Amino acid sequence: MSKAPVIAIDGPSGSGKGTIASRVAEALGFSLLDSGALYRVLGVACHQHNIDLADAAAVAKLARRLDIQFGLSGEGSVCLDGEDVSLVIRTDLGSDMASKVGAIEAAREALFARQLDFRKAPGLVADGRDMGTTVFPDATLKIFLTASAEERAQRRYKQLIGKGIDAILPALLRDLKERDRRDSERAVSPLKPAEDAIVIDTTDLTIDQVVKQVLEHYSSA
Ligand code: C5P
Repeated sequence: MSKAPVIAIDGPSGSGKGTIASRVAEALGFSLLDSGALYRVLGVACHQHNIDLADAAAVAKLARRLDIQFGLSGEGSVCLDGEDVSLVIRTDLGSDMASKVGAIEAAREALFARQLDFRKAPGLVADGRDMGTTVFPDATLKIFLTASAEERAQRRYKQLIGKGIDAILPALLRDLKERDRRDSERAVSPLKPAEDAIVIDTTDLTIDQVVKQVLEHYSSA
């Protein structure tokens, strides 16, 4: 039996991956894998269990035994060991811990099989950093979204302010650049477009325009 089709959507933080991936999945009736949420949950779990990130074996062990459930307490929700962690994984601590555990090879290996499990008929939209390069190298369509660092920091700023959370734009920009650096320079699965990926710069595009482009590429793939 042939494998279900996959649309891989990769890119840096704030490139619009999450929103675009969920809109594309909805339009096609496909399942969605937010792989960043797995790294975020693992990062938060390491923090809660006081795991030293220098101890790669301990991080990988935790990654293998984590009980992570998506959508259990509402759409887009994430539960860890039955507890709703949807909000805490989106905090700066969650982002920082995710990018630190993401640099640990054994942690990536431990999360690899979990990601493959999301591939089901009629299809999957997978968003992350290495969906097209490492996890689903045979994806039907590979999209790499980019946007300038300033635009991505602006988007994050508006998102936080909209939620009533205080934010300082220059600090957000600095943190975002630091995470970009860590994600692109790491030895394992660094953030980079797959050779056969279509790169879309979303700096001056609306969400609707990007969704339309991705769907058009998929129908001609
Ligand atoms: O996509 P999101 O911003 O939620 O990802 C949080 C962090 O998790 C990223 O900065 C990256 O370090 C890590 N990550 C990763 N590989 C993925 C998805 C996320 O290393 N496939």
